[in-house]
Amino acid sequence: MNRLFVANWKTNPLTEKAAVALAKAEDFPNAVICPPAPFLSAVKKVLKKAALGAQNVFTDLLPAGGAFTGEISSAQLKALGASYVIVGHSERRIHLLENNEMISRKVEAVLKAGMTPILCVGENENEKAMGRTEEIVSRQLELGLSKIDRSKTPPQIVIAYEPIWAISKGDPTHVTDSPEDADKVISMIRARASTLSVRPFVIYGGSVNAGDWAGFAEYAGIQGALVGGASLKAAEFKKIIK
Ligand code: PGA
Repeated sequence: MNRLFVANWKTNPLTEKAAVALAKAEDFPNAVICPPAPFLSAVKKVLKKAALGAQNVFTDLLPAGGAFTGEISSAQLKALGASYVIVGHSERRIHLLENNEMISRKVEAVLKAGMTPILCVGENENEKAMGRTEEIVSRQLELGLSKIDRSKTPPQIVIAYEPIWAISKGDPTHVTDSPEDADKVISMIRARASTLSVRPFVIYGGSVNAGDWAGFAEYAGIQGALVGGASLKAAEFKKIIK
């Protein structure tokens, strides 16, 4: 796989019309477009080159449906044409209290439904200051990947290293990671994940924009990016991906 660029639109845009227009403008072969759930179907219809991704999924595989009000199953996402699902984003870990147990079940459900998980890991500001990055990220990997079926061929998992302190939350002046530091953590993630019965494909996410991506792109080990705020501007996303 060449580099992969995941557009995580989060809770944007407001209307289906705007989502469809953005999807058309970001329809590149190495892109995964992750719109909010209400627009998945409309976006899938207009994508010709990019893959479709979901931003979340229910914890368990429900091939025949189930009674879980408000949830969306991996089987439904697969039926809609999604091939990737973001799992364990820090915003969900923080605001929706997702824990590693739930995340491991989501990873399992996504794989069993025949899609690829994009597992997000990363340390917060305090953990970084205390030199705990490796410990925190290793634990997220070990627990998040704990339900992988070890008797089967290792599945490919996209792992997004997203240091929480570098996620922009829409603030363009937010502190960013240095490509050199990001590359070091990504190498550690690849080595650790390779011992956990998966084939890791490791990308970086944390306020990547058209201006700073070139610095990250110099490191061959950084296999792509998970782009939040900058993916809401098609021209900027295009500059990153080209
Ligand atoms: P950002 O978001 O690019 O706006 O920092 C990345 C993410 O949270 O996925």
